[in-house]
Parts: sequence; C-alpha cells; structure tokens
Amino acid sequence: MSLFVKKPINVLLGEAQAEGAHTLKRTLGPGNLIALGIGAIIGAGLFVRTAAAAAQHAGPSVTIGFIVAAIGCAFAGLCYAEFASMIPVAGSAYTYSYATMGEFIAWIIGWDLILEYGVGAATVGIAWSEYFNKFLGIFGASIPGEWCHSPFEKFTDPATQQVLTGIINIPALFIILVLTMVLIRGTKGSALVNSFIVILKVAIVLIFIAIGWSYIRPENHHPFIPEPTTYTNPHSGITTNFGGIMGILGAAGIVFFAFIGFDAVSTTAQEAKNPKKDMPIGILGSLAICTVLYILFSYVLTGVASTEDFRTHGKEASVSYAIEHMSGSMVNGAWVPKFGWLSNLVTVAILAGFSSVILVMLLGQSRVFFSMSRDGLLPKAFSDVHSKYRTPYKANWIIFLMVGAFAAFIPGDIVGEMTSIGTLFAFILVCAGVWIMRIKHPEVPRGFKTPAVGLVAILGIVVCTAMIFGLGWTNWARLGGWLVIGLLIYFGYSRYKSKLRNPTS
Ligand code: ALA
Repeated sequence: MSLFVKKPINVLLGEAQAEGAHTLKRTLGPGNLIALGIGAIIGAGLFVRTAAAAAQHAGPSVTIGFIVAAIGCAFAGLCYAEFASMIPVAGSAYTYSYATMGEFIAWIIGWDLILEYGVGAATVGIAWSEYFNKFLGIFGASIPGEWCHSPFEKFTDPATQQVLTGIINIPALFIILVLTMVLIRGTKGSALVNSFIVILKVAIVLIFIAIGWSYIRPENHHPFIPEPTTYTNPHSGITTNFGGIMGILGAAGIVFFAFIGFDAVSTTAQEAKNPKKDMPIGILGSLAICTVLYILFSYVLTGVASTEDFRTHGKEASVSYAIEHMSGSMVNGAWVPKFGWLSNLVTVAILAGFSSVILVMLLGQSRVFFSMSRDGLLPKAFSDVHSKYRTPYKANWIIFLMVGAFAAFIPGDIVGEMTSIGTLFAFILVCAGVWIMRIKHPEVPRGFKTPAVGLVAILGIVVCTAMIFGLGWTNWARLGGWLVIGLLIYFGYSRYKSKLRNPTS
C-alpha cells in the first residue's frame, strides 16, 4: 500500500462521532474565540524570547521582527481556518493531513508537532524557572544557579560574579511535573480561571507599555536597525547574524514563538456558533490584537533597557529587570527601584500566565499522541485511558519524561528555537496542504474558504521559509536531525503497525 494512503474523510468524521465529539455544543462566539486565542498566545515568547531576540539578533529592530512573524502567522492562520472548517474534528494539523495528504506526511507533521507542543512546553517551563527565581527573590531567597540551569549552559553567579555551569533545571522540571499531574486528574479548563488569566496577561502588558513609555531612553533605540554584523554568545559559543535584514529575520524566527497557540482557535471549529464567519475573526482577531500589543511592548522594552543589558544582567526575567531599572535611586549604596511593586506584580502574573500556556501545550501534545496511537502509528499505551479520570495518563507520563528531559537539561535558547523552526515547518506543510486540497478535491464542502488561496498559501510559505532561513544553520541541522529520527521510527515501526495500511493486524 502506498506511503501516501489517506484516511477517508467519512471515516474520520465517523470516529469523531463515535467519540462523542458530536455532542460538543456550538456555544463560542467571536469574542470567546478571540479570548481563547489570546489566552493561548501571550507567554514566554513575549516575556522572555523578545529580550533574547534583541540580544542575539536585532537590538531594537526586534519590533520589526514581530511584524514579519505576524504576517507569516496571518497567512498560515487563514489556511488553518480552511482546514479546520473542512474537517471539523477537534484535532490538529496531524488529523487534517492524514485525510488530505496521506500517512507519510501526516507522520512527519505529527512528529514535527512534538517540537511545537512538547518542546514548546519545555521552553515555557524554562522561562517559568527564570521568573520563579525572581519570585523567590522577593522573599530574599533563591535557588543556586547550578540547580536552575542546564548542564550545557553557563551563567554568572550574581554573588561572586564567577561564571559557572549548570547541572539541572529543577524548577522547570517541577512545574512540568505539577501540570502533568493536573492533566492526569482531568482538567475541565475552568473558563473563569482562563478568563482571569487572559485579563491579567493583557493588563500587565498594557501597564508595562503605559508606564515604560515615559522612561524610554532614545539612545537605546539608536540605531533602530543595527549595522549588519555577528554576535557570539559568550556562554554557548554560538555565533548569529546581528543587525540588518538577516538580524530582523533571525529575530522574527525567535519571536515567532510568541504567536504560537493562535492555531488553537482552529481546533475549536466544532464549538463555534458560526464557524464560517467566526473562525477567521477569532484567528485573525486574536493575532491582530497580539500583534499590536507585541509591537508596542517590544518598542518599550528595547527602549528602557539596552541590548547590552539583555546580553548580561537582564538576560533572565528580562521584563522584571527592565522595570526595576526604568527608574529608582541609590540608597546606602543599593539600588532601590521606583517600580519594585510593579516588578513583583508582573513576576507573579507571568508565573500564572506561563502555567496556563504550559497546560495548553501539554494537552495539545497528548491529543496528538492519542490520535497517532489510535491510528497505530504509535504504541497503544499512548491512547490508554485512565479508568477513573478518563484521561490518557500513560501518554501524559511519557510526555512528562520527554518534556521534563528537555526542560531539565537543554538551554532555553535551544529549545525555544527548536519550537519555532518545528512550528514554522508545520505551517508550511499546512499552507501547501490547503492549496493542494483545493485543486485535488474542490468538491469537499468547506465552512470557510481561504481567500485567494494560491497567493495566500505561497506568501505563507515564503514568509515562514524566510524566518527558517533567518534562524541559521544550527537550527536547520537540529530540525533535520529531528526529522531523521522521526523517519527511522516511521520506517522501523509505524508503517508496519499502521491500522490503515494493515487493517487486519
Ligand atoms: N505563544 C506562547 C508563548 O509565547 C507559546 O509562550
């Protein structure tokens, strides 16, 4: 049987019905969808990766990087919306592609989505660890640096100014463990808690912009686009393009992370009151609001602190650092920030906000594994459901081991960039897939049709490829290595176990 065997759409819809998905009520209007999108979007990308992109790639022009990333997401988002409305099954790019592009591509996307969800959760876990240390600092406590950094990461001990190497990132591992246990117990996703966190996140972004605006130092914004050169990270030894167009593209690739999650809106196609109209409003509306917030936020962040700050003292918990250094005075030889209260508030809000993003990502990962296992591409354990909690608990534990290992032992920069490049690659496949389907199967009904599909798909592919290009060869090599591992598993295991290819097994 062909590598590109497709799962018939009627089978897919039948499975969804059997699972009771048809009981999902159509209750979500455009406002709910936008809130859902914003809840899944704002997180470590904004509060941690912005500073990293400024430090390593673009200085203040990271702001332009946000615009490039938003454009790529808008094109890909329109393509996601068509897929979601054509195959209105609660699922993700993996499910869509199994029906449209066949098993082999579906496997590649499913394997690649581990980078988006699993490795993405590890990235936010590591970011959580930075702000957790900041939080402990409010009470005069801290975790020794060796226990909150990866063994592949060097850091400067604040007390002795010595450069040391990490051992393991315990707080990152801890938060992944706690949220795994929450997921296993089953989360109904309290709408109230989610709405509260969305309001909190948007509020701290707005307060930061409003207060920070008057503390922007014009010299930090000059030159706005630095001259093209390179930057070698003294701790990792990795050299990246800095400044110019390549710097902006590299920064766009990094801050693209901040937009990941908007596709979560497309997975609720079945619950939207009027998917045809509301899905694009939900996807593009949440993207538009976040883009405006991100541009203003990054403009202020790079204005109140310098690129050099983000390379040194302000490398970790960068937003709290920037707030503490906006204004203040020396008292008995010690710096007393004017907005210490805001820094503390932001730290707590960020910890809550990151937790909700990690939860969404772990949940997304378990759904993808669940579907792949149901199709026979992964062992059955991935879809075993707990007798009491009715959750895929074995998958959750396996995901904990994988995500926990990334969070504990790999530096945040590396996992963050792996997440970005993996997701960009998935977006490219989705853009191509929608266009191919429109040509090959124009007859399948679609609730929403991507306008000017050929143009939108091509532009989506071009912009996402440009960001992949900007991320540099180390990241291309990591993505290549990851896909090779995936192919070995597919050809060594999955293709023999696939239920579609081996109906009798
Ligand atoms: N967009 C999400 C974040 O920035 C993944 O944390």
